[in-house]
Amino acid sequence: MPNPQDRVGNFKKVVITSGPTIEPIDPIRFISNRSSGKSGFHLADEAKRRGIPEIFFITGPSFYIPADVAVIKIETALEMRSHLLKHADQADVIIMAAAVGDYRISEYHKEKIKKSEESLTLQLTRNPDLLLELGRKKKKNQILVGYAAETRDIFENAKNKLEAKNLDLLILNKVSPENPAFQVDRNQVYFVTKEVIRGLPKMEKAEIAAHVWDEIYKIRQAAGNEST
Ligand code: CTP
Repeated sequence: MPNPQDRVGNFKKVVITSGPTIEPIDPIRFISNRSSGKSGFHLADEAKRRGIPEIFFITGPSFYIPADVAVIKIETALEMRSHLLKHADQADVIIMAAAVGDYRISEYHKEKIKKSEESLTLQLTRNPDLLLELGRKKKKNQILVGYAAETRDIFENAKNKLEAKNLDLLILNKVSPENPAFQVDRNQVYFVTKEVIRGLPKMEKAEIAAHVWDEIYKIRQAAGNEST
């Protein structure tokens, strides 16, 4: 029997982002996405089950908030970024399960936008790519995990993303009508690492979370073997 400490690879601090981000348009409205926050919730729960002492959970608006972990609630991508940067350096593992909005409203309207013309154009500005930033400043021995939702050329795109963002593991969702990935309990994913692409059967998100942590432990173990 491995001792529980071995199973967590002696991880002390992990950061998990979860849920959607929202970008306000005016005091009444916002743009966002369909992320429920279930995957992030299960990842945090599983980390807790494995006895990892410090779990920081940075989440956009979601009903799925794990108990007994440090919860940081944010709304926008820029707010998520500032909390991530505070915690990233000390983290042994960072998992970016959040569906971070790629764009924000260029100019927030302080007053409610009243309807007038037949059409209304909103201008959007690119948000920073948080995963890319984390990949660039990744510490030695730190494990960085990202998610991808793709609809075509999925393996090629995933391999490129893994490399461009300096990731150790990418959880790839092939989004299709049979596998919507968002707001469902069961999902089919692929694990993409530098060495292999491995498809998992369709399963509950809680089970996927356990597999993700098993994979993270394997990556840690392989890195440990390399450096000895
Ligand atoms: N992500 C991020 N910052 C953003 C957007 C996404 O850190 N501004 C992270 C998510 O947390 C997730 C991964 O990037 O881990 C998702 O990437 P995805 O949306 O699939 O693709 P992108 O890298 O944004 O590229 P593209 O839109 O070209 O597919």
